Amino acid sequence: MIDATTRLLIPEAERGAGTIVVVGSINVDLIAHVRRHPLPGETLHGSGGQMLPGGKGANQAVAAARLGGSVHMIGAVGTDPQAAVGRSGLQAAGVGLEGVREVEGPTGLAIVTVAEDGENSIVVIAGANAAVDAAQVTAAREAIGAAAIVVAQGEIPREGIEALPALVTGRFLHNPAPVMELDPAVLLASDPLVVNEHEAALVLAQLDPGASAAERSPEQTAEALRATGIASVVLTLGAQGALVADADGLHAVPAARVTAVDTTGAGDAFIGALAVGLARGDALPVAARLASQVGAFAATGHGAQPSYPQAGQALPPLSEESA
Ligand code: RIB
Repeated sequence: MIDATTRLLIPEAERGAGTIVVVGSINVDLIAHVRRHPLPGETLHGSGGQMLPGGKGANQAVAAARLGGSVHMIGAVGTDPQAAVGRSGLQAAGVGLEGVREVEGPTGLAIVTVAEDGENSIVVIAGANAAVDAAQVTAAREAIGAAAIVVAQGEIPREGIEALPALVTGRFLHNPAPVMELDPAVLLASDPLVVNEHEAALVLAQLDPGASAAERSPEQTAEALRATGIASVVLTLGAQGALVADADGLHAVPAARVTAVDTTGAGDAFIGALAVGLARGDALPVAARLASQVGAFAATGHGAQPSYPQAGQALPPLSEESA
């Protein structure tokens, strides 16, 4: 545990190339299984009720660590009994928790509704994640500066995320989900920016408010994001795979054909795997192919972290390979 004024130290042996630092949220996911999602004003019967470790930051850290990454987490849990649940997946995966502090009050909570077709809807209550501010992030400057890959999402305060570009010396893998108003310099520092089509439109509107809101193809969207000055972009397309845009052009990344039972956290598994690939020196399009397989694997199991593969586990082939 650290407080906001304590510097986060990573053991000497683990520094340098290959280390991944995830700056982000730690939640407990309260799961409700329903036949279909309720309409506004409607009450439905459901099942489930489990409390599972979640949060986009923690999920990404766990996914990366399970694949063999050397991962450290910077975040916060509360002083309630749920804190142990929030930390449990990180601990089991061997994620370094020196940068996770405990703040008075509740741990972050996500109410996750999963329908029969595997699609989910989520309401997030920040709890302790609201305390991951610029002071806490800056206190971890040594770990952030030593990391090959620094990963961030959108479930901590904007000040915490906006403190990152000045500290990152490796690659800044930025997944602005959910999208919030950010200093454009933070968006432009992303390398890669990882977004779905909805998030891409919101980011484009921030970076280029004058741009037409006309519909774009995925290729046009990825190119428009690159044209704003972002070094590299990964546009995730669900069952259609993903598109990578970098200095070498556009690269299509196929999806793996799987029967999805629960897509909760599948996008986070994609990002954790992407971080592992980049940390070991893979080119972005190569890392994105591993990410696509790992994201698909995660959709075949229930919950977020419980559905993630371990290093060496068989992954579903990408559709071009299975054809
Ligand atoms: O991306 C899935 C995650 O979003 C869930 O685990 C939930 O905690 C929310 O943060």
